[in-house]
Amino acid sequence: VLKLDINSALSPRVAGGLQREDLRGLYERLSSGIDALRAGGDFTGWVDLPLDEKGPASIEDWARGLPAVIDRVVVMGIGGSSLGPMAVYEAIHQPSLAAGIPLASPARPLIFLDNSDPDTVGEVMEAIAPERTLYVVITKSGSTAETASQLMIAHDHASAHLKAETADHFVFVTDPEKGDLRKLAGRLGVRSFSVPPTVGGRFSVLSAVGLVPCAVAGIDPNRLVAGARVAREACLVPAPERNPAAKLAALAYLMDTRQGRRVHTLMSYSDRLARVGSWFRQLWAESLGKIDGDGRHVGPTPLDARGATDQHSLLQLLVQGPPDKLVIMLDVASRRRRTIPRVFDDLDAFGYLGGHTLGELIDAQRRGTEASLARAGTPSVTITLEAVEPESVGAVMYLLEVTTALAGTLYGIDPYDQPGVEQGKRVASGLLGREGFEKDGELAESHDRSRDPDLVMEI
Ligand code: PA5
Repeated sequence: VLKLDINSALSPRVAGGLQREDLRGLYERLSSGIDALRAGGDFTGWVDLPLDEKGPASIEDWARGLPAVIDRVVVMGIGGSSLGPMAVYEAIHQPSLAAGIPLASPARPLIFLDNSDPDTVGEVMEAIAPERTLYVVITKSGSTAETASQLMIAHDHASAHLKAETADHFVFVTDPEKGDLRKLAGRLGVRSFSVPPTVGGRFSVLSAVGLVPCAVAGIDPNRLVAGARVAREACLVPAPERNPAAKLAALAYLMDTRQGRRVHTLMSYSDRLARVGSWFRQLWAESLGKIDGDGRHVGPTPLDARGATDQHSLLQLLVQGPPDKLVIMLDVASRRRRTIPRVFDDLDAFGYLGGHTLGELIDAQRRGTEASLARAGTPSVTITLEAVEPESVGAVMYLLEVTTALAGTLYGIDPYDQPGVEQGKRVASGLLGREGFEKDGELAESHDRSRDPDLVMEI
């Protein structure tokens, strides 16, 4: 379903690029990283999600049983609780979303609310009819403020319209035992699915977090998981030299730490896969941006881009800007066939295009970029999906998850925590008067008081 090609990251193809031996130097550490993933642990439940055949099948059955009157879905969640399902949903349905046409039955359009922005939340609540809507609320902790407030608004809005059967319009995805959303599921009698305690947010796309929204949108969760199962075989091979995730992790790590290539750009040559870039950005940033055991601040900066579109915005920087970039291209071998007609062929700008397919054009553009990057000394790797289907999407996401975990081993950090985001959350809670967070709230107040008005300019 997938192919990883790292030729254009290595010397001599890229002048000053890495040597194969450089990768070999990391194999011992990578081996222990792979062993640890195979052995399992408190936070690595995601590794075996592809082996679960019952979970996806029961989610698929449940989605099939939803009443026909439900024809749209609002998905509430943030970070790891939204980016995964969003990436899969857009990969499969992007063309019809772009065309603005309704999705074919039995699929239902998903509306993702992943922010506390009142403009979006307000507009969506006013636009939808609760009697035709399913509200999917996803939060593993059950306490994330953005999601909690969306749920409160949606539930209030739906109750006002629906009266008795409100619970039938909600489904919760959360921890099997802990958290206030789990309590609320019991209190309201809402259908719920569990995220295993050993699966963290950004590694949860193959759990109910990703599968529930996808199933209601008509994407077969069994196919997504089956693709990841194929990738699992390859990505858990103990020998790093035969393991694509280990190779990619080693390469990305060395580019960052040895070659100063600190910006890792996932460039999807497919509109369908563009959102996989946003998902990857979170996975790479939140997992690897840490303080290591020696107190060093580590972690590459991820960027996401879309080819060929961003050849007209970012490429100039990638080729001639600071030599601090690694490009990871996502390519697709088999796409819809659309031939460019032979018209206006007496004109130079049009004549050579006629008769080619659009697929040939985007492929030529990707190859042109790869070659010109290499010539400029900018390394790139290419991951090619056979076609954009649930299987290949599941596989590429699994590959990138294992790559992230193994990169975590190389950086010597814990890829599963995110201590850096906690303080901001605590301060916001304090500002909103949450009990026990008063001191945290004071941090923002005193920070505001220290503002020098001379440094504020009005226009
Ligand atoms: O990757 C993560 O762990 C985070 O991005 C979480 O997914 C995000 O903060 C949302 O958390 P929760 O699912 O608990 O609402």
